[in-house]
Amino acid sequence: MMSSVKIKTNIVIVALLLLFSVPAQAAGGGDFKQVNINVHDKSALQRGAVLFVNNCLSCHAASYMRYSRLGEDLGLSEDQVRETFLPANAKIGDTMTVSMTAEEATAWFGNKAPDLSVVGRSKGANWLNAYLTSFYQDENGEWNNTVFPDLVMPHVFWEQQGIQKAIFKDEEDAHGYTHKVFSHFETVSEGSQSAEEYQRTIHDLVTYLIYMGEPARIQRESMGIWVLLFLAMFTLVAYMLKVEYWKDIH
Ligand code: HEC
Repeated sequence: MMSSVKIKTNIVIVALLLLFSVPAQAAGGGDFKQVNINVHDKSALQRGAVLFVNNCLSCHAASYMRYSRLGEDLGLSEDQVRETFLPANAKIGDTMTVSMTAEEATAWFGNKAPDLSVVGRSKGANWLNAYLTSFYQDENGEWNNTVFPDLVMPHVFWEQQGIQKAIFKDEEDAHGYTHKVFSHFETVSEGSQSAEEYQRTIHDLVTYLIYMGEPARIQRESMGIWVLLFLAMFTLVAYMLKVEYWKDIH
């Protein structure tokens, strides 16, 4: 008897831990910082969606996301969705598939670009923000990234961000071995956007990626307010009833 209660308690504890655990943040050098994402900011979402469709969909798919949903959630009419987002051969009910086929992508980039539908949930906003701001050019003029070393993905926004190089420093570990660890970035050439503007661009894009990981959240959260209001009203009515019933007894 005892032990089954205990097991149940353990299950509840594990479930609670899982529920409240945030996506793990991979260790790695880069500009890691806390970013606050507001998925209800419709204009950030719209700008982010435009950035995503124009710059990422050529390699990555988002096969859980339908174009029609963009209209509903971003506050755009069907015509606006058609004009802004829809590729010539696609229909409004289609999902966001890649314009490059998987075979082409593998042939060109070796490593197939992963589907980004739920990357917002698996990696989290802080990681995505750090990743998209940590591209640098190495000594051979190749793109690299301190958060995702030796990646295949090119720096899509290098014209906007400009070119930076990464400075590493030697650090000794507990066993006396030295390792190269990331220290900071140095600007090689300026981009068309200032550092703040580029950060805002990436913030919009990350807002969109986080939204796309869980589109239902937008509707659920606005429904949540009504549920809470209803519960508050209900509690009030129940309390008034109680007072009414017990009046004569006291
Ligand atoms: C030229 C093709 C290409 C384009 C364009 C591209 N990517 Fe990638 N991306 C890749 C490849 C290939 C990978 C797999 C990792 C690697 O590079 O080795 C990747 C990896 C990623 C990852 C890591 C995913 C994971 O789960 O590890 C993220 C996030 C990402 N890309 C976001 C973006 C965003 C956002 C854009 C648009 C701004 C974009 N990518 C544009 C090719 C591309």
